[in-house]
This record gives sequence, C-alpha cells and structure tokens, in this order.
Amino acid sequence: MMTNPLFCGIDFGTSNSSLAVANDDDVFLIPVENDQNTIPSAMFFARKDNEAFFGRQAMERFLARQPGRLMRSLKRVLGTPAMRQGTMVNGELMKFDQIIAAFLNQMKRKAEADCGAELKHVVMGRPVHFTDNDAAADQRAENELMAVAKSLGFEHVGFQFEPIAAAFAHEARVNGEKLAMVVDLGGGTSDFTIIRLSKQNARKADRSNDILANTGVRLGGNDFDKDLSLAEMMPELGFRTKYGHKNLEVPSYHYFDLSEWSKVNFLYTNRILFQAKQLLRETHDPVRYGRLISVLEQERGHAVLAETEKIKIGLASKENYAAVLDFIDEDLRIDVAREDFNAAIITKTERIVLAAKECLQVAGISAEEIGLVIMTGGSTEIPLIQQQFRTLFPAADWSEENKLSSVGLGLAYDARNRFS
Ligand SMILES: Nc1ncnc2c1ncn2[C@@H]1O[C@H](COP(=O)(O)OP(=O)(O)OP(=O)(O)O)[C@@H](O)[C@H]1O
Ligand SMILES: [Mg+2]
Repeated sequence: MMTNPLFCGIDFGTSNSSLAVANDDDVFLIPVENDQNTIPSAMFFARKDNEAFFGRQAMERFLARQPGRLMRSLKRVLGTPAMRQGTMVNGELMKFDQIIAAFLNQMKRKAEADCGAELKHVVMGRPVHFTDNDAAADQRAENELMAVAKSLGFEHVGFQFEPIAAAFAHEARVNGEKLAMVVDLGGGTSDFTIIRLSKQNARKADRSNDILANTGVRLGGNDFDKDLSLAEMMPELGFRTKYGHKNLEVPSYHYFDLSEWSKVNFLYTNRILFQAKQLLRETHDPVRYGRLISVLEQERGHAVLAETEKIKIGLASKENYAAVLDFIDEDLRIDVAREDFNAAIITKTERIVLAAKECLQVAGISAEEIGLVIMTGGSTEIPLIQQQFRTLFPAADWSEENKLSSVGLGLAYDARNRFS
C-alpha cells in the first residue's frame, strides 16, 4: 500500500507504452505486462467474442493465427479523420477513442492494483507534432487524448513533450549543469529538445527558462518499415508488375497500405479482394501477383510487416538478414543487406537529421555547444542513424540508458512537480 498522493506519467507510444508513478520520495516504473516495464501498443480482438488482449499477448495470438483482428500504431490515428469514422472489428463498428481507452485502462488498472490506490493525476506524453504543419489536427489529437484520459477517471490531466520527459528522467544523474539535446526517435515520430539540465533545476515547477527549443517530425520506425517493405518485400508480392495487353502497372495502393501498420486493416474488405482477383486473370506475373491475393485473402498483411520490422532490427546488428516468408509461399526468402536498407531509408533519415538541426537553429546555438546527447527511442539503434548523429555531435557526452522507458519515468517526475 502506497501513501497518497500519487502522480502518474503515461507514455502512450506508437509502438511501446509505459507507465510510471511518483510519490514524495520515489519515482518508479510499473511492470505493465507481467514483469515487463513496457508493453507493445498492440491489441488483438478475438473473433468469437471480441475479447481484447493487449501487448505481447496480442502479438502472440495474432502470430499464432488465432482468428481475430490486430491493431497497432493506434497513436497515429489521433487527430486524423479515421478517429471519427472508427473501424470494423469482427463485424462491429468500434471507435478509436474506445479502443485507445481500453488499452490505457488496462495499464492504469495494473498500476492501481500494484499501488493499492486510485490514480487521479496524470501527465501524458505527446510528440512535439502529432502531424506535420497542421496546428488544428495537432490540437485535435491532444484533445482526443485528453478526453480519453478523463474517461478513465483521471481528474487532473497535463501534457508534456516526450523528449522533455526523457530529459527529466536523465536529470537525476547529471553532474553540474549540462546543455543537453534529446534525440527521441520512436515508432511514429522523431522529437528533439534542447534543455539545460542540473540536479538543482530538477524540482522546479516551471522549467520554461531551461528549455531552449523543441522540434519534431512525423517520421519514425514505422516509416522505415514502410520504406523497407516497398523496396524489398512488396516487389515479391507483385508491386510494380504489369497486367493486360496495354502493359499497365498493377494498382499500387494495396502495396502502400500493406506497408503501413495503421492502414493494413483497411484492406480486408470483400470489394478490395474482388477487384484484386479480377486483375489476376490478366497479370504478367502470376506468381508474384498471386502472393498478393493470398496475403489479402488470409489477412496476413501484419505478418508481412512484422517480418519487415524483424529484418530492420536484425540489420541493426548484422550486415545481412534473410526473412523466411513461407507462410505466403513455400520457398519465399528475402535477403536484405544493410546497405540496401540504408538506401531505402536515407531520404527520411536526412529529414530527421534536418529536424535536429532546426532545433539547434531555433535555440540559436551551434552543435559544439551541446555537452550531452541523450539518445532515446528504439529507432536510435539503427546504425545509419547512430553514424549521422555521431557526425553531428562528435565531442558531446553520449547517453543511451533506458531507451524504452525514460519518457514514462520523466512524465511521472513532471506530474509530481506540477501537481504536488
Ligand atoms: N534494434 C532496433 N533497430 C532498429 N529499430 C528498432 C530496434 N528496436 C526497436 N526498433 C524500432 O523502434 C520503434 C519503437 O521505438 P519506441 O518504443 O521508442 O517507439 P514509441 O515510443 O512507441 O513511438 P513514438 O514515441 O514515436 O510514439 C519501432 O519502430 C521499432 O521497430
Ligand atoms: Mg516514444
């Protein structure tokens, strides 16, 4: 049993989520799935009764081919028109706010059970921009997340930029005063903050004078999966092949949707399958185009994307990685070299580095003045990214601890400072 009051931080990530709690003396992560401090932001709705499963359990059920619907990258729906339209789940129309609420509620309940107390105060993380260059959509996204938090019973809800939260989590370990840049490269967004860190500053309620700049772009690991899928996987499913006597290219939207975590589910309609099958009679590449039909028919789009993500992660530590796609076609193997992956993601990587440079510009400082670089988020593992940021900050101290949980921890620090 914990003593009241408790302050909560929730990092609702595109790929992984975490929750931390602070009281007067301590800040700690809640094991949100069994003994794990992070939970994949995934849900699986079983076909037979629409029962919901979360996190690793959701992925396991999906990958074991249990009948039902997988949802990932829910955060990317915030602020978009799909939020209002909802989605069909096992024949039932579900609203995305309900789906997101169900996901966050199981985390909150786990934390309350562990703490033996109700949580009323929360600071939720948010990217610097949910969407690029659209202030209205950005505000809508935050409002939608606010409404979800209120619906869960949180009475006091605040928001903080995710990279600022990551900086707070590191601050307890900083000696003296450091001008730090946070590089938070997640699944959905890349976010940057330049902030003055010191143990003395850590308990101040108002940090606005210490924060020099924030920038961000809606690009992250999901986009690298997309680039890799379009470059290496989709051609094996007939992307860019031809059909008919006019030698036309087959429609590309199937391949684009199959390469995006938040869009795969929209392909599973009878109309889309019917149209794709009509082209099968005229295709010049029945083997490859036939694989597309099989993926659509068997609803294996997420499985292909999961293999794509595995290649990406494999290539972080190896020069080559071979994916076995025997669930599509008995002897389908796709070999990818790191340099092919680098070539696929270089354009987006450069846009991410540009957003980091913009942060320096807005702060009015040079890269040499940054004393500490805090690398956080799963996508900072990519060798090409590491290399680019090392080149940008050759002399700075480098910190890479708690990549997947620092945002959650920092949000709880922030909640305590704001609400106590
Ligand atoms: N070793 C690795 N190499 C490359 N990418 C990785 C590695 N490990 C994880 N990733 C990628 O990192 C991303 C997830 O990172 P993280 O958990 O920080 O994101 P998130 O916080 O959920 O997203 P966001 O902050 O954008 O909402 C995924 O795209 C995942 O594929
Ligand atoms: Mg994140």
